[in-house]
Amino acid sequence: MKIFHKKTNLSHHIDRLKADGKSIGFIPTMGALHDGHLSLVNKGLSQNDIVVVSIFVNPTQFDNQEDLVKYPRTLKSDVELLETVSNVLIIVYAPSVKDIYDDNVQSQSFSFDGLEYEMEGAFRDGHFDGVATIVKRLFEIVNADNAYFGEKDFQQLQIIKKLVELNKMHVNVIGCEIHRAEDGLAMSSRNTRLTKNHRAAAPFIYKTLKTAKKKFGTKSAKRITEWVNLEFNKQPLLELEYFIISDVKTLKPVKRKSTKKIYRAFIAVYAGDIRLIDNIALN
Ligand code: PAF
Repeated sequence: MKIFHKKTNLSHHIDRLKADGKSIGFIPTMGALHDGHLSLVNKGLSQNDIVVVSIFVNPTQFDNQEDLVKYPRTLKSDVELLETVSNVLIIVYAPSVKDIYDDNVQSQSFSFDGLEYEMEGAFRDGHFDGVATIVKRLFEIVNADNAYFGEKDFQQLQIIKKLVELNKMHVNVIGCEIHRAEDGLAMSSRNTRLTKNHRAAAPFIYKTLKTAKKKFGTKSAKRITEWVNLEFNKQPLLELEYFIISDVKTLKPVKRKSTKKIYRAFIAVYAGDIRLIDNIALN
């Protein structure tokens, strides 16, 4: 498998592939790859000749330094996992912080029509400026035709679509369904850091989302939110940070349901020190 650590070498290689008429799919990741990432890679391979996977723990999107330090860095096993899918059709880009940021490890400041202030934006200061900074840079370096993002980070996906639109970038951003463990827990690199007891408690998150979806037909968003809060109060190992039902376009919390709008329920929960997020389509 070809692994690049320097953006210039990667860009030259991609220029040659493109000159040969190859289409490029791109999966940006922070590593600690799991089956959810592999499903994005497989989707990328089904729609492109070559798939580039970037593996980079981006310092500017962490509002919590301890989370950044503890974030799993597992390049060797990540590459081994990707090799089980394809040795020749996948390229890895694993840059250093210097290769991406030079000596200026700073986010750019962005505006995304207010999408950035809701949910994760309200709870994680500067997070989306960091995400948009790295994704914009990676898009410029990789110059892909299609880029794939999981819907677990639905707000991130909407913001990246907006980033591409506002900057008139020529990459097609494709959202992919959430990949779940058999017990329903949304796959995340953070799951490996859960204690045994927290891991056992965590499927309650998706179970609650599914019940919220059932209730959505007959109950108001306010009633459902109250019910979710009561349910989490009974869970000693899980601490609810937010549960919000929002319009998927604006990501603003629903006040009064409209049959013309599409809604999703979004949730963030602490299982011990580990923050988990998930969401579900409601209509
Ligand atoms: O979703 C992620 O893993 C990260 O936010 C991303 C898109 C790779 C940017 O660092």
